[in-house]
Parts: sequence; structure tokens; C-alpha cells
Amino acid sequence: MVHESYRHEHDKGLMAELRWLRKIRTFWQTDLNRAIVDLADPQPGERGLDVGAGMGAATVLAARRGAHVVAVEPGGTMRLVARVRRLFNRSRQRITVEPGVAEDLPVAGRSTEVLWAGNAMHHWVDHGAAFAEFARVLAPGGRLVLVDEDYDDPTHPDHGEFAGHEAELTPVDVEAIAVAMVTLGLDAAGTHEMVAGVPAKVVRATKPD
Ligand SMILES: C[S@@+](CC[C@H](N)C(=O)[O-])C[C@H]1O[C@@H](n2cnc3c(N)ncnc32)[C@H](O)[C@@H]1O
Repeated sequence: MVHESYRHEHDKGLMAELRWLRKIRTFWQTDLNRAIVDLADPQPGERGLDVGAGMGAATVLAARRGAHVVAVEPGGTMRLVARVRRLFNRSRQRITVEPGVAEDLPVAGRSTEVLWAGNAMHHWVDHGAAFAEFARVLAPGGRLVLVDEDYDDPTHPDHGEFAGHEAELTPVDVEAIAVAMVTLGLDAAGTHEMVAGVPAKVVRATKPD
């Protein structure tokens, strides 16, 4: 069950669905998703969670490495694309596509060794609820990597088009996010760094054993 209250107006409705569908060729696979999966480094047999998975670009890469991945996505059209993609994917037995939001994840507590999200943090309506969920679902020793491209950095190639885009969504302050995660018992750090050749906001965290 997807809680609509955890979706920004920007992400809801027919226009939002069409906006994503129009970009299917751009987002089918991206260098950023490849880099995120490298950073998360899912291992064979590990249980992974792709939060705000979109059409499953990172999900399929992680499953190809042997991880069992739950792709969580609130958008019905994106889920449909991800499910069709799964059907034609060689790693489909290791992929599950589920409706859900970061703030209310459809998996059991301590069920996830590795969690990641790509260009999704600024879509989450309630960061506090999302991070509490991450602390809940991570297994002891589990890890997470969250990466959003930093379009507000003037060196980002798409700065001109997307600067200020967080204004209609959720501002992402990686240092504040790390502090919030530490209060939830995670070891966490927020950084600004280059990912896949573009400036990005990155949060890494681990759950102590
Ligand atoms: C920019 S897309 C990124 C998709 C995918 N991670 C990728 O890199 O291709 C952001 C995604 O977050 C999803 N989303 C919106 N609100 C969300 C929420 N509260 N929890 C989880 N995902 C959400 C959107 O439906 C959308 O698919």
C-alpha cells in the first residue's frame, strides 16, 4: 500500500507519470546508477533494498551481482516498467518490485544488508520517518548509501536546467541527515563528492552489530 501523503504533488498524477515515461530512454540505465551500485557493493546472497527505485536501473545491476533486491517504488507507472523489465531480466528470481515509500518500507525489520537510493532523497516528504525506517530495516552490520546529484553546484552540467529543483520537493542537507541518523543509532556521514563525474550529495551509514 502506497501512502499518498508521502508523495510530493510534483510526483503524483497523470502529468508526473507522463514526465517519467517520456524520460524512459534516459533513465533506463545511467552512469549514476552504476556508480551507486559500485558504492553500495552488494554481494552475492545479500538482501538489498532500492528505495525510490524508479524503473529499476540500480536494482537490475545489484541483482546481476547476486544480491536479492526489493525495488520499492510508489509510482504505479514506474513499478509497471520495473516489473516488465524484471520479467525479461536474467536475474529476475532475485528481484521483487513492491509498492511503498521510504517513510513506510514494505519489508521486515533487520531484513536488509544493503540499502541504497539514487536521486531520491529530495523526493521523500518526511526525512525523519524515512531514516527511522532505514534504521529499522537494516540488519546489524548492514549499510546504506544515498546519492542525489547536486544540481545547485554550478559545475554540474545540468545546473542551468535543474538548479533550485529541491525548492518544490525536499531540501537535502547531507550533514543534517547524518546527524539525524546518528541519533537513530547508525554510524553516518554526509559528504559532497563527485559521483559518476558529477557533483553529488552522499550519505553513507552503517548499523552497528
Ligand atoms: C528521480 S527518480 C529516481 C529513480 C531511480 N532511483 C533512478 O535513479 O533511476 C525518484 C523516484 O523516487 C520516487 N519517490 C517519490 N516519493 C517517494 C517516497 N516518498 N519514497 C520513495 N520513493 C519516492 C519517485 O516515484 C521516483 O521514481
